[in-house]
Amino acid sequence: MDKPLALLVAGISSELKAMLAEVVELVPLNKQGDETQFLADQGAEFELVVTSAGKGCSNALMELLPNLKVIFNWGVGYDKVDVEFATSRNVQVTNTPDVLNECVADMAIGMLISQARSMGESERFVRRGEWRINSSPPMGQKVSGKCLGVVGLGRIGLEAAKRAEAFSMQIRYHNRYPRDDVEYVYEASIVELAKWSDYLLILCPSTPETYRIIDREVLKALGPKGSLINIARGAVVDQGALVDLLLSGELGGAALDVYEREPEVPEALMDLSNVLLLPHVGSATFETRTAMAQLVVDNVKAYIDSGTLITPVN
Ligand code: 8YV
Repeated sequence: MDKPLALLVAGISSELKAMLAEVVELVPLNKQGDETQFLADQGAEFELVVTSAGKGCSNALMELLPNLKVIFNWGVGYDKVDVEFATSRNVQVTNTPDVLNECVADMAIGMLISQARSMGESERFVRRGEWRINSSPPMGQKVSGKCLGVVGLGRIGLEAAKRAEAFSMQIRYHNRYPRDDVEYVYEASIVELAKWSDYLLILCPSTPETYRIIDREVLKALGPKGSLINIARGAVVDQGALVDLLLSGELGGAALDVYEREPEVPEALMDLSNVLLLPHVGSATFETRTAMAQLVVDNVKAYIDSGTLITPVN
C-alpha cells in the first residue's frame, strides 16, 4: 500500500525526517520550486502537514490545502498555528507536550543560575585570556534562598519550581487562576509578583491574552536588583521595554532563550554582561528532541491507522 503524503513546511531534524519517512511520503515544500504554483497544482493532495513550533502553519497555507486534516506540530508551543481557524476548517492540530518538561525546566534553572552568577561573562573572561592579567573575575548574585516568581505554573513550571526548591528558593506564581494542587503562594497581579521576586521566570504559553503581559510596569517592578528569565516565547515580553530598562539599569539582568523575531536578537543586548543570550534551545537535548520526534511519529501513525491522535490540541 502506498504511504500517505505529508507536506513538510518547516526545517526539522534529520532524525525526525528519517522516522517520518518510515510512515509517510514526506514532501518538503521548500524543494518544490515555485511554492505558490506547486500548492495551486497539488495542494489538494495533502491531508497531512508536518511543521515545527517555530514555523507553524499560516492561515494562508491552510487555505491552499483544501483537504488538510491534521497539522503535526514538532514542539509543545503551537502559537504559530491559529487553532480556532484550523478548527473552523475541521483541521486537527497535535503538539508534543510533557516529553520536554524536564529538559526545559533544567534549562530554566540553568539559565537563572548562569545569569545570576555571571557564568557567560566569566567564561569569556577565561577565553579572552584576561584571567592571566586581571585577578578579579566577574562577581554574581546569590541564588539559594532567593525569591522566585513563576509566570505560568503549568507542567514545565512545576518541574522548574521543584528544582528551585532544591536551592531553598521561596516560590510564588501567577496563573490565570490559582492552582488547588500546590502550596506556593498565588499572586493575582504580575506586578506584585515581580515586586516580590528576585528572579521572574516566564513559562506561560504565547496566546493573544499573554501578548506582552511582561510589560514595562512589570519589568520596572522587578527592578534594578531583579532578573527576568524567559524560556517561553518572545511575544510574552515587551522586548523594546526590556532593552530600554536593561540599558538604563532599571532592570538588573535577563536570561533569554526566546525573542520577538527569532533569530533576530536586539543588537543593544550583545554587549551587556548582565544578559545571557541563548538561541532557543530549551528542549534541545538529543534525548528530548528524539522523544519529541517519536511523539510526532506516534501521532502520525495513530492517525493513519485509526484516525485518532495521541496528543490533540483541538
Ligand atoms: C521547539 C519549542 O519545539 O516545544 C516548543 O514549543 O519552542 C521548542 O522545543 C523546537 O525548536 C522544535 O520545533
